[in-house]
Amino acid sequence: MKAINLKGFGGVENLFLDEIDKPAPGPHQILIKVHASSVNRPDIVQREGNYPPPKGDSEVLGLEVAGTVESVGDGLSRHQVGDRVFALVGGGGYAEYAVAYEGHAMPIPENLSFAQAACICETYITAYLNAVVLAEAKAEDTFLLHGGGGGVNTAAIQVCKALFPKSTVMVTASTGKVERVKALGVDHVIDYKTRSFAEEIKTLTDGRGVDVILDHIGAAYLKDNMKSLALGGRLVVIGLMGGIKAELNLATMMVKRQKIIGSVLRSRPVPEKSAIIADFENNVMPFFDDQTIAPLISDVFPLSQAADAHRAMELGTHFGKIVLEVQ
Ligand SMILES: NC(=O)c1ccc[n+]([C@@H]2O[C@H](COP(=O)([O-])OP(=O)(O)OC[C@H]3O[C@@H](n4cnc5c(N)ncnc54)[C@H](OP(=O)(O)O)[C@@H]3O)[C@@H](O)[C@H]2O)c1
Repeated sequence: MKAINLKGFGGVENLFLDEIDKPAPGPHQILIKVHASSVNRPDIVQREGNYPPPKGDSEVLGLEVAGTVESVGDGLSRHQVGDRVFALVGGGGYAEYAVAYEGHAMPIPENLSFAQAACICETYITAYLNAVVLAEAKAEDTFLLHGGGGGVNTAAIQVCKALFPKSTVMVTASTGKVERVKALGVDHVIDYKTRSFAEEIKTLTDGRGVDVILDHIGAAYLKDNMKSLALGGRLVVIGLMGGIKAELNLATMMVKRQKIIGSVLRSRPVPEKSAIIADFENNVMPFFDDQTIAPLISDVFPLSQAADAHRAMELGTHFGKIVLEVQ
């Protein structure tokens, strides 16, 4: 089968279309004929050699797929051959076929295309798990979501607004994306290129701060994130685009009874991911069914042009997700 492989770790020039063996489903797995996959920022980190797949998962890039069930392992009954499914995979998404654990695949809602369905798992589950479940979000919380136009962030905006219509959602975005983020129905957009988000949050909340921050910048934002957090606030760190080491004022954190939570989805054990996905399916998928939430596709590339898709993400002009059309 055709798949994107790596000549070595590093830049986009390492990505090439290769011919490799079709994977065989193991226990509790199904084989999916992939129609679409999508690019996530962690794929770039893996391409650079800094995010290896969990043991047992494919070395091929790609954390999510949408397609049709090609075959089903012995004794499995949730999905049938021919069903339209989308799935979270530990690797192997940039390929014509991928294996997924039965419990990591969900039926595609009738109103969604393969391309749209390939944009759900890695971003919406990450958004829900972190901004809602781990942050113990409540109906009238105030959220600060960083990185307005990105895959995870646009998903987080939709999830917070759908689950908590009475919440207040504040978002940071770069200058060129401010208007498009506003159009997603958020309460405030802060242009992080021209303003200090900590100062803006202080003004917007009358000095109170926000209840939940979803952050993927890490070190560079830690100080301002902690400044922006309310009494009892929760900061969930899911990415490190701004570095890994920073200083923390523990006294303030203690007195303000704040929590810092770190989380990754990919390396969790299979049953834990199944439980997270089941929870997501129950609580978030109904909003896709009734079209309250719709995946935002920025660009579509054929699988063979995965390098161009990575270039587009690195350029950062995308708004929402970058899709790879497989077949
Ligand atoms: N822990 C997990 O389980 C998990 C799972 C999936 C993803 N992630 C992480 O989540 C992050 C986002 O992934 P993605 O796939 O959504 O990538 P993406 O689509 O490229 O989004 C990244 C966003 O970061 C924004 N950004 C860059 N510098 C910023 C800054 N200084 N302040 C605020 N925003 C800034 C960019 O916004 P502008 O273009 O407006 O600058 C862009 O929209 C990555 O760090 C990824 O590793 C974590």
